[in-house]
Amino acid sequence: MALRRFDLEAGGDTFAFKPETEEKIAFWRNKYPADKQRSAVIPMLWLAQKDNAGWLSEPAMREVADRLEMPYIRVYEVATFYTMFRLQPVGKYHVQLCGTTPCQLRGADKLKDVCKQEIGDIMYVTDDGRLSWEEVECLGACVNAPMVQINDDYYEDLTPETLAQILGKLKNGVEVHPGPQVDRVNSAPQGGATSLTEPSLFDGSRNAIATLPNLPSATPTEAEATGKPDAAPPTNTKREEPAKTTLIDANKKAATGARPESVTIDPASYDDLKRIKGIGPKNESALNELGVYTFKQIAAWTPENVDWVEDFMSFPGRIEREDWIAQAKTLADGGETEFSKRVDAGDVPSSQDDED
Ligand code: FES
Repeated sequence: MALRRFDLEAGGDTFAFKPETEEKIAFWRNKYPADKQRSAVIPMLWLAQKDNAGWLSEPAMREVADRLEMPYIRVYEVATFYTMFRLQPVGKYHVQLCGTTPCQLRGADKLKDVCKQEIGDIMYVTDDGRLSWEEVECLGACVNAPMVQINDDYYEDLTPETLAQILGKLKNGVEVHPGPQVDRVNSAPQGGATSLTEPSLFDGSRNAIATLPNLPSATPTEAEATGKPDAAPPTNTKREEPAKTTLIDANKKAATGARPESVTIDPASYDDLKRIKGIGPKNESALNELGVYTFKQIAAWTPENVDWVEDFMSFPGRIEREDWIAQAKTLADGGETEFSKRVDAGDVPSSQDDED
């Protein structure tokens, strides 16, 4: 790194932050605890540079050190290390030209020639005070090389001609537009996208779930039925909509107990099983699929039936815990339970919604 000295004469003897900067100073200082205020040194120097016409005078550095109660030398060390801090006067528009390899390979040397021609030597300030320039290391916009930073903005994808135009406009007070100076948006390909252009990539159609060979199926596969291997499973095809969603697994065999007797009755004779505490819409549908429709059936369940249903519906101990049998007996006899009264009054949302 080149030795960086600050200009002791050009900065005069004093510096003061602008009144409107105080709010920003407070913001940065408030980010750090009272005994770690020096952590705000870089943003403070940055604000001082902005309030000092784009460069850091020695009194400006002292002001920052005083405010943060730091030794002056510590602030000088930071200011002279980071090239974002300028240590001598600059023009109203200061050009930082990236000369690092990607920009150099893309023509940065020719841009330097333009700066020399339009402005002068490095850090020379034009007579009208409007322009100055310097060469810096990579500014992180290599994909849009070659590029320059002018004050706070990047100007990218430059040619000698476009840079000369920009400098000419700045000299004459004409508005300029930062960003890529070619036909591209940010870092997108010049002239528009050249890959990933298929609409199906963006319309969601490729997000459909493909059928996987090991998805569980409700019916035995041919291989399972015959012992012969399946044909090769389809890949990357849309999943067929299931014909009907069932709430119980038809292939599941209860391990213990005895399956309750299944009946077929007129739907008009179905009881509202949701009047039993513990049976919501899902469990009622599952019981119906097992051929259980009435309080009387549940009231007649044996302990073996209870075991079977609990095992089959995967909620061990629940029927006994919630006392379905006693509730069913009361309701089958035309009586009411505290819970059935609340259901009848519409006070149990879970007996109305699709919940259990
Ligand atoms: S090399 Fe120029 S921006 Fe990175």
